[in-house]
Amino acid sequence: MMQNKHILIGITGGIAAYKICSLIRDFKKSGAEVKVIVTPNALNFVTKLTLQNLSQNEVYEGEFTPQNWKPEHISLSDWADIMLIAPATANTIGKIAQGIADNLLTSVACAFSKKMIVAPAMNCNMWQNESVQKNLKTLQARGIEYLPPEEGFLACGYVGKGRLCSLEKIFNAVDEALNYSETLKGEKVVITAGGTIEEIDPVRYISNYSSGKMGLALAKSAHDMGAEVVLITTKDVECPFRIIKVKSALEMEEAVKDEFDTADYIIMAAAVADYKVKEYSQQKIKKGEDTITLELVKNPDILAELCQNKTSQIIVGFCAESENLIENAKAKILKKGCDFLVANDISRKDIGFNSDENEVTILDKNINITKLEKASKSVIARKILEWISTK
Ligand code: PMT
Repeated sequence: MMQNKHILIGITGGIAAYKICSLIRDFKKSGAEVKVIVTPNALNFVTKLTLQNLSQNEVYEGEFTPQNWKPEHISLSDWADIMLIAPATANTIGKIAQGIADNLLTSVACAFSKKMIVAPAMNCNMWQNESVQKNLKTLQARGIEYLPPEEGFLACGYVGKGRLCSLEKIFNAVDEALNYSETLKGEKVVITAGGTIEEIDPVRYISNYSSGKMGLALAKSAHDMGAEVVLITTKDVECPFRIIKVKSALEMEEAVKDEFDTADYIIMAAAVADYKVKEYSQQKIKKGEDTITLELVKNPDILAELCQNKTSQIIVGFCAESENLIENAKAKILKKGCDFLVANDISRKDIGFNSDENEVTILDKNINITKLEKASKSVIARKILEWISTK
């Protein structure tokens, strides 16, 4: 899987540095070539000799000892297929976010234009620090993936969130990124995400539990697969592709229609409210009677409309069902007329709405059914995209 892939690992000064030794072995066992850069502080936790033996390569530390005419930070970034920074301290995350290049690792990161994954590890109070969170958002907006730390006993004696995530998670994220195909290069993929918000008055609204995570995972995967991505979402997100923020079903409909003609794929992962109030109240509705009646009217069915007007686009609907998943999904794909329908079981707490994992069933027009076993939403997203782009 990783045969002949070039993995560049940046290790910074945190106690979790020692764990990276096993990770280097795992990458090597999978056939990858590994090179390691350390910050001076990393060497307080792990020795150069250990890393050198495990990676079977020289370990890079200084910027001013080039082996050939090319400066080290340029030749290392040219060499690598992917860069992983683990553990990443608050200090290094901050420097990369601000474009500071004051050691070899941060200089390489600054020059690096391919896939980069960062696995932070730090004290739980540092993790919650506003600047650290802001810096991570900056990295994310640039397309750098970060693997959140986990809760647990920390080396500093605290118990909280800050522990380096599992090596298995890091390994899988690198493996996934390395094996991404360029299947969607040159394609425009429009994705909707999140629950629409149908306002009742200036204070209240009708909405649903959709967090937008599934749609965001699809957008990130499509971007990684080389597509031009437009994410139409009801949630605030920062990403290195075009985001159109909307609120209501009507706003979502307008945004989708604007992108429709030039799109190759439309993926409707948003949970669009079927109904909105007939009349929005300009003023807050006052408490009075024991019961009040809100009159609701149907929202447009965006997906069904797109399917009626489609030319060459591949249209993918999602459906959220709390019972009879497959029966309802079969009826829905026929009714809506989309090319594929991804059925979600929202009766389970561990998948579907707002969870980080999902388990879905994909139906095509001929009612061929394929189940994708439970996995992170990013893995599910990638599989859905691979499925629809190769069928
Ligand atoms: O956002 P997460 O928390 O990550 O959760 C993911 C999810 C469960 C919300 C998502 O994966 C999902 O299932 N989205 C579809 C939810 C939904 O609205 O299902 P539905 O069965 O009501 O609608 C079927 C399809 O028609 C959907 O593609 C929907 O976008 C579309 N639709 C629905 C109503 C409407 N008026 N217009 C539409 O276009």
